Amino acid sequence: MVRALVSRGVDGPLVVEDITLPDLGPDSVRVRVRAAGVCHSDLSMINGTLAPSFPLVLGHEAAGVVVAAGDRVTHVSAGDEVVLNWSPACRQCWHCTHGQPWLCETAAGPAKPGGTTADGTPVSVTLGLGALAEEVLVPGNAVVKVPAGVPADVAALLGCAVLTGTGAVRNTAAVRDGESVLVIGLGGVGLSVVLAARAAGAAPVIAVDVSEAKRPLAEAVGATDYLVSDERLAKAVRGLTEGRGVDHAFECVGRSATIQAAWRATRRGGQVTVVGMGRRDDMVSLGALDIFHSAKVLRSSVYGAADPDRDVPALAASVLNKTLNLGPLITDRIELDDAPGAFERMARGEGGRSVVVF
Ligand code: APR
Ligand code: ZN
Repeated sequence: MVRALVSRGVDGPLVVEDITLPDLGPDSVRVRVRAAGVCHSDLSMINGTLAPSFPLVLGHEAAGVVVAAGDRVTHVSAGDEVVLNWSPACRQCWHCTHGQPWLCETAAGPAKPGGTTADGTPVSVTLGLGALAEEVLVPGNAVVKVPAGVPADVAALLGCAVLTGTGAVRNTAAVRDGESVLVIGLGGVGLSVVLAARAAGAAPVIAVDVSEAKRPLAEAVGATDYLVSDERLAKAVRGLTEGRGVDHAFECVGRSATIQAAWRATRRGGQVTVVGMGRRDDMVSLGALDIFHSAKVLRSSVYGAADPDRDVPALAASVLNKTLNLGPLITDRIELDDAPGAFERMARGEGGRSVVVF
């Protein structure tokens, strides 16, 4: 049995419980989790944004060490350091064979079966992982080997927030040197977008959140300007961009209001990249004439349009050679028993990333 953070239903209490993982199959891998981040998509599992099945083991952003690998798994073995991938690619479907593994047709929905509670009740695991747990049992293609030596808390972030944020900048938007960037929502994902935009040479990089509290975090990852979100945001952004609006806006909240704000703050011919995952019934309203006349691009970035098998080791190498400093993203290192409090802080919009270190 392993200890895991379990949600029993929408808005119900989060409880650390003992669960029994499934047996190791020929294509699966058992991983001892060393660190796991608390991501907003976990909150979306339990606040009604998504509709997973309960009881549900939370967590999908994690790094660990392989305990055992099934007979048919060849790319990792016991002792290897790995990062978990919540969208493992089958490499055979249409999207995988057309260069879009992040849209793999076989990837797990919000939850899939993954063991039993102490009283024998079947549990689901978030995004096929359930990584806020001492150990996980996952498909072999859901583990990416990384070089030894990356601190566990930092490695965990490579599996979701950082891959998503850097991928949105590099793969989806292809931000170039000297372009102007707006980032709305400064959690682990938005802060990663700021970091990657600055690394790409973007300027200004205007960071936005709901209060002044996030300003120091934004500046620590390289934001050149900081604005508190209100209905005058687009005007304030135009004031920082010679009256035009930004070349690129990144929405890292997952709400129609902030998607519309990002759209309004973007210049004619510019690009809005939606990184946040919103509710199914939250409709975005844009004027038909505005869509035509503004010539803007509106697109989303799913999992940073990344191939984790390629991009996670590359990010890990950047951490090791010190060209990528993810330290400022992590504001709370906590124990599993303290994870419910981290979800409450996240719901209130406080702090950067909280990471459970085992
Ligand atoms: N304007 C600006 N910022 C906002 C607004 C708003 N109207 N509403 C919320 N925010 C801020 C919050 O204050 C918080 O700082 O957005 C930030 C979101 O951060 P987290 O909750 O830490 O979320 P994160 O894990 O970064 O994920 C962001 O990306 O992958 C998706 O599902 C994920 O939709 C989520 C988004
Ligand atoms: Zn995530």
